[in-house]
Amino acid sequence: MTDKLIIFDTTLRDGEQSPGASMTKDEKLRIARQLERLRVDVIEAGFAASSNGDFEAVKSIADHIKDATVCSLARANDRDIGRAAEALKGAARSRIHTFIATSALHMEKKLRMTPDQVFEQAKLAVRFARNLCDDIEFSPEDGYRSDPDFLCRVLETVIAEGATTLNIPDTVGYAVPELYGEFIRTLRERIPNSDKAIWSVHCHNDLGMAVANSLAGVKLGGARQIECTINGLGERAGNCALEEVVMALRTRRDYFGLTLGIDATQIVPASRMVSQTTGFVVQPNKAVVGANAFAHASGIHQDGVLKARDTYEIMRAEDVGWAANKIVLGKLSGRNAFKQRLQELAIELESEAEINAAFARFKDLADRKSEIFDEDILALVSDESVTAVREHYRLVSLSQRSETGERPFASVVFAAGEQEHRAESDGNGPVDASLKAIESKLQTGVEMLLYSVNAITSGSTESQGEVTVRLQHSGRVVNGVGSDPDIVVASAKAYLAALNKLHSNVDRVAAQG
Ligand code: KIV
Ligand code: ZN
Repeated sequence: MTDKLIIFDTTLRDGEQSPGASMTKDEKLRIARQLERLRVDVIEAGFAASSNGDFEAVKSIADHIKDATVCSLARANDRDIGRAAEALKGAARSRIHTFIATSALHMEKKLRMTPDQVFEQAKLAVRFARNLCDDIEFSPEDGYRSDPDFLCRVLETVIAEGATTLNIPDTVGYAVPELYGEFIRTLRERIPNSDKAIWSVHCHNDLGMAVANSLAGVKLGGARQIECTINGLGERAGNCALEEVVMALRTRRDYFGLTLGIDATQIVPASRMVSQTTGFVVQPNKAVVGANAFAHASGIHQDGVLKARDTYEIMRAEDVGWAANKIVLGKLSGRNAFKQRLQELAIELESEAEINAAFARFKDLADRKSEIFDEDILALVSDESVTAVREHYRLVSLSQRSETGERPFASVVFAAGEQEHRAESDGNGPVDASLKAIESKLQTGVEMLLYSVNAITSGSTESQGEVTVRLQHSGRVVNGVGSDPDIVVASAKAYLAALNKLHSNVDRVAAQG
C-alpha cells in the first residue's frame, strides 16, 4: 500500500452546496487557481448536470487548471455522466465522480427503488462512465449507514466495471472515528478485488467529528484519499476541513507516516479567499486559519513562547501562510508596484482591464486609508466591481446623516442595468436607512437572514470593514460581501452584491436531492 495520500478538495461542489455559498463562474475559477497553488491532487469543480452555470464553471476550470485532476459530480445516469464528460473535455486530467444512495432509508424513502434496481443502476453508470473517462470515482451515498453485505456487493461490481476510486461517504455525519475506520477496513477485507481501487473518505461534520473520522478512515481503514473543503465549508455543519486534516497529517507524520503534495503556505490565503468570496466568516478560534489560532494571550504562554517557541506552538504560523500584517503599498505606489504585489500574492487577474479596475480601486482606497495591507488587496480584488463581469446592480454614491437624538437618514445612488436610481430613507441606524433606501426603490421583498461586520485587518479602527449580508427570496439563499473603510458603504455594496446573485438566477439540482 502506498504512503501517498490524495487530497481531494470539494469546496467548489460540496462546499458550495451550503445555503448562501453559491459562487459565480469567475469566483470558482479564482478559487480553483488558489487550490492549484495549494497543490491539492483533485479539484471537484462542481456538478456539471445541475445547471448551465455549473456546467460552464466546471468547463472553465477544466480548461484552465493544469496541475490538478479536475472532477465533476454526476448522478448515476447517462445524462449526468455525459454532461460531466462534456464539461471536462478540455482538462489535462479529468475524473467523473458518480454516486447513488445505498442505505435502506435513502433507497426506499428518497429514491423509491429496490436494492436490486440500485445495484443495476450503479453498475451501468460506472460502465458508461468508464467508456468516457479513465478515472472514475464511485460513491454509495449514505454509505456509512448502508447494509455492509449490500455495499460489498455493489462495490465489488463497480470495481469490476472499472471504478478506480471508491469513496465511502458519511453523508449525515453520524459516524464515530473508531467505527468508521473499522467499517472501511472491513469493506476492504471482504471485497475480493478491493486492491484494484483507491479507497476514499468523505465525512460531514454534524457531530463535530469529520476530521477525526477522516483520519480514522486513513489510519484504521487504510483509505488513501481524503475529501475535504477549505474552512470546512459545506451543508449544515460542513465537511472535513482541509486545513485541519492536512496539518494533523503533517504535524503528526510520526504517527500517520503519510506523504502529502500540499504546499501548506497557501492554506491561509485559500481560507481567506473562500471566506471573502462566500461571506462565510471564519471563527476566531478555528484551528489553523482562525485569527487567534497562533495568538498567545496569557502571560505564561507569551513568556514561554518568547523563551522557546515550541513550549506552546506545535506548528509555525508562517508555515501555513500567516504573514505578519505588512504595510505593502501606499498612495504614492504606482501601477507597476501594485501589479508586482498582486503577483507576489499569487493573484491572477484575467485581463489588463481587470488590473486597471483593481488599481483604480486601490488608489481610491489609498486616498482614504494611509496603510494598505495584503488583506486589503485581497479584499479589493474579491470585490465584484473589479472583475470584468459588469454586475446588474452597482453602487454609485451614498451619503448619510446620523446625529445623537435624530433619526438617521440615507440617500443612495445606484445603477440597475443601464438605469441610475436615487433612493432615500430613514432607518434605525445609517446602515438600516441605506438598505431601506435601496429596497424602497427595488421592492424585491427579500428577507434578510444575516448581517455581519468584520474588520479586515485587526488592531485599529483604520481597518476596512467587511460586511456579509445573507438574503432569502423564493427559497433561494445567497450571500453578498462588500468591503470599504466606511461600513455603511460596505453594507450597501454587500446588499447589492447579494441582489446580483439573486438576479443571476442560478438554478441547481441538489446533489443529494
Ligand atoms: O455527502 C455525500 O454523500 C456526498 C456524495 C454526493 C459524495 O457529497
Ligand atoms: Zn458530502
